[in-house]
Amino acid sequence: MPEDGLEAKAADRARPPAETAGGVISLDDVYKSFGSGERRVAPLAGVSLSVEPGMKLVIIGPSGTGKSVMLRLILGLLEPDRGEIRVFGRPLGSLNRYELQATRKRIAMLFQGGALFDSMTVGENVIFPMRAMGERDEERMRAVASERLRQVGLPGTEDKMPSELSGGMRKRAALARSMACRPEVILYDEPTTGLDPVTSDAIADLINSTHAALAGANITSIAVTHDMRVAGKVADRIVMLYGGKIVGDGPPEMFERLGSGTLPDGASEMDRMIRQFVRGEADGPIRTVV
Ligand SMILES: Nc1ncnc2c1ncn2[C@@H]1O[C@H](COP(=O)(O)OP(=O)(O)OP(=O)(O)O)[C@@H](O)[C@H]1O
Ligand SMILES: [Mg+2]
Repeated sequence: MPEDGLEAKAADRARPPAETAGGVISLDDVYKSFGSGERRVAPLAGVSLSVEPGMKLVIIGPSGTGKSVMLRLILGLLEPDRGEIRVFGRPLGSLNRYELQATRKRIAMLFQGGALFDSMTVGENVIFPMRAMGERDEERMRAVASERLRQVGLPGTEDKMPSELSGGMRKRAALARSMACRPEVILYDEPTTGLDPVTSDAIADLINSTHAALAGANITSIAVTHDMRVAGKVADRIVMLYGGKIVGDGPPEMFERLGSGTLPDGASEMDRMIRQFVRGEADGPIRTVV
């Protein structure tokens, strides 16, 4: 049985460094709105962001601020109204259908809800993206699936149906599936929503260990979450979205500092927003609609 070390595979994948010179993913003054008239919502209104290769970026922000929309724009599943999105150095708007597909294959997405195909076994779910990418060697695919499931703490669950797993186990299985194709970028949309704090912490560990296992290939991880504990544990850098804009951008320590103690004199509106979000308070400059 061939050894399927993630590092070994990652090392094969030399990429020209120029490709990511301006960031593996970058957004330049991106606008995205939906609907018109009274029903118009504009989740992104001038967002610029550059993500360095190898980084673990966490995006936080209240519900409905466009976090999932941002991930879908990066995947080319949505198009911006204005502005440019570059992935692996190339503007998505300049890619034809095949180039876009090829770009997407280098990115894994763990969708919000971590949906598995309910009609397939767990093993088939993990194999699915490999098959979709044209892999034909059944034995090899099964071996990779077993290895990925073992890596996420679900050894021997290949033949179970998703309905037999708990919510946390389903997230883990979805993570095993997103790792199956040795991605260069992994996008996680709310990987811990609906999980208890202990399982959430284990998922944060798993994101970190997945990142470490693929670090040789300069894997870049971008996670969207509401959970500040997960954000603090995973992030090298946190970006907070609110009102269509980035209102905070810095290391987790900056967010911790703004969330604790007393606010210094002269704190900005943005500092107050970060503090309110980190502390989970209803009162403050962030307006919520309930
Ligand atoms: N395909 C779409 N068509 C119309 N409106 C959309 C579409 N996708 C998102 N929206 C709207 O854009 C806004 C941002 O949605 P998005 O899903 O990005 O929020 P979010 O920050 O991910 O929220 P949550 O934390 O609740 O997941 C919402 O008002 C949503 O209703
Ligand atoms: Mg979302």
